[in-house]
Amino acid sequence: MRIRPIASIIVLSCIPVAMPSLCGSPAGIERRIDALLARMTLQEKLGQLSQSTAGYARSDAQLRNDVRAGRWGSVMNVRDAQQRAELQRIALHESRLGIPLIFARDVIHGYRTVFPIPLGQSASWDPELVRKASHIAARETAAEGIHWTFAPMLDIARDPRWGRIAESLGEDPVLASALGAAMVRGLQGDSLDASDAVAACAKHYAGYGAAEGGRDYNTTWIPETLLRDVYLPSFAAAEKAGVATFMTAFNDLNGVPASGNAFLLRQVLRKEWGFDGVVVSDWNAVEEMVNHGYAADSADAAVKSLRAGVDMEMASTDYYDDLPALIAAGKFDVKLVDESVRNILRFKFRLGLFDKPIPAPPPASAMLAPDALDIAQQLATESAVLLRNEGNLLPLSKSIAKVAVIGPLSDSRVDQMGCWVSDGRPGDVHTPLAAIREMLGPDRVAYAPALKNSRDSSQAGFAPALEAARNADVVLLFIGEEQSLSGEARSRASLDLPGAQGQLVEEIAKGGKPVVLIVLAGRPLTFSKAAADARAVLYAWHPGTMGGPAIASLLFGNAVPSGKLTVSFPRTVGQVPIYYNHMNTGRPARGASAHISEKVAPEGDTSRYIDIDYGPEYPFGYGLSYTTFQYSNLKLSSASVAKGGALTVSAHVTNSGRWPADEVVQLYTRQLSASLTRPVRELKGFQRVMLKPGETKTVQFKLSAAILAFHNERGELVSEPGMFQVWVAPDSARGVRGEFRVVD
Ligand code: NOJ
Repeated sequence: MRIRPIASIIVLSCIPVAMPSLCGSPAGIERRIDALLARMTLQEKLGQLSQSTAGYARSDAQLRNDVRAGRWGSVMNVRDAQQRAELQRIALHESRLGIPLIFARDVIHGYRTVFPIPLGQSASWDPELVRKASHIAARETAAEGIHWTFAPMLDIARDPRWGRIAESLGEDPVLASALGAAMVRGLQGDSLDASDAVAACAKHYAGYGAAEGGRDYNTTWIPETLLRDVYLPSFAAAEKAGVATFMTAFNDLNGVPASGNAFLLRQVLRKEWGFDGVVVSDWNAVEEMVNHGYAADSADAAVKSLRAGVDMEMASTDYYDDLPALIAAGKFDVKLVDESVRNILRFKFRLGLFDKPIPAPPPASAMLAPDALDIAQQLATESAVLLRNEGNLLPLSKSIAKVAVIGPLSDSRVDQMGCWVSDGRPGDVHTPLAAIREMLGPDRVAYAPALKNSRDSSQAGFAPALEAARNADVVLLFIGEEQSLSGEARSRASLDLPGAQGQLVEEIAKGGKPVVLIVLAGRPLTFSKAAADARAVLYAWHPGTMGGPAIASLLFGNAVPSGKLTVSFPRTVGQVPIYYNHMNTGRPARGASAHISEKVAPEGDTSRYIDIDYGPEYPFGYGLSYTTFQYSNLKLSSASVAKGGALTVSAHVTNSGRWPADEVVQLYTRQLSASLTRPVRELKGFQRVMLKPGETKTVQFKLSAAILAFHNERGELVSEPGMFQVWVAPDSARGVRGEFRVVD
């Protein structure tokens, strides 16, 4: 074992009581970084800029030797807590300068306790609950000695063909900002160095969700106005919430790959937003700039990426391999290397890694604690969206004589967890079948999966399912998409139910028993025929560890559905991209959102399809309850507002049904004319309100003129005078409407 020289111990250790200003304070940290930088070799510096995955090493010994040599600033996917502790001990005590490693891991929607996929979480419209879930994910992750996770994903997703829509917070920038910031706060807690916090990473910066054709990694073209109004706000909100790191996206944006994009990284992120954390590339994204045709070779890729502001290179090793020769030849300024090393060391100080004792492997009780499971169930419950409930079939009575539980997703532990689950274990998952059996007793539940998985196209298993349906009072049919059909590199050109699921629904429905479809999926699917064959449809996404009890409690009335869609559901894939906050066109299709000049004949050719209704199957914001809500009495505190001012918008929301329930009340606006065309509606606020049967609440929103601002052609944020419509609404297609004017 090599002993670290005394000098480095003096530089790196900190006695906060004696020297508070020299240690944890920003200035103290910068001084400690100066001292380190002064002693680092170029190879040690480039090591800090490099991140790898444990799997690269041919042996544990190689990994240990590399860590001892300062080869990596961060390593992800290290096998277990004991191995992490050993590597950290080597980094701190056997490397020349004792610089700790950062251990990273993809904890996208939970560590051992798996929460619903992010798209599902977003349907809760409940930032506080989402924050709590992220905090539990952080607690379980940190207990394992992991410091950094690559979440939240803040890409606005308007295209359900894109498999990563599952990881998104939907199509709206205001909602994604609120939920993304909540995730950051949940993961990072009050302080990055706390024992139950991990650093978050705002990804994928930027524009990744606009991949052409919904094909993952594909080209994006986003004009600056749209970029700033729709694709960047969720990232800006994460930055404001204190996110420690950003990850660049795989895609090229308007011809420049995100990992070589100085406009995004230096101009917007560092200069305009003042970000002083770490920017990491996505996996191999630096080297992939060669494939993009933006870099001639790996040396060129290293130069372009570091110049653009990517501090840490994930997976590919262009910085480490190619920069030394360029620096020696005077072709690259080492100052840029120092700047990025500084960002990374600052991050390590903020994480407290220089001063933190190496944690012992956690006790089993650190995982799946009762409060974690409670929050997981609550979030799965609030995420589920009731799309149809003909004749109030739901909720079912618990004294029902017999139910048939059918379908490939009724008892599939792996699929229920969804995409991007590295540490969740199938054995921990409570499935709907198990929960329904527990609720009704096994004798009243007949089970027949009918299909082996969602892609199974054989009808060989239909007979027992049809038999079970015949003998039951109600059929609970669990269909959708298995876990492996959404997530990274899982784009689909068809959004239809895979395999023989459509036929299964049709055959079961022919039997005449009432059918409830429970759809588990990572994206909006097109399933109008199946929905019409059923009496009720509950869209449950991939709901995670506690999805089964959540679904059972909703089906049998222990809980009332309150989720609302955060992406528009198309009728057919041919309508994609389809999103609620679109522009009007000069010849808008006639419908709720059309705003039409009286001088234009209403019968004119319009922006519609000749073979299908132009609108979505289910609009953004939509979701039913077991009760009904009435909206009335919209009031504005004034008919006009000055550019710097604010007004209050209120409306009455009444629970006109028989169930106490939550309603997600939404505030939308529309500017009727401006220097650039404006969307037909834009979400400006939302509140989750609990109402008892018969109760009316006045729901109030403060609407500041500033949040009506948009980016003009020069990229400036402007508030323009003009007429606005405003809605307080149950979804993006309805609501009570008023008007006001913004004046100079
Ligand atoms: C690639 C993915 O795009 C990104 O989201 C993930 O965090 C990294 N790989 C690391 O696994």
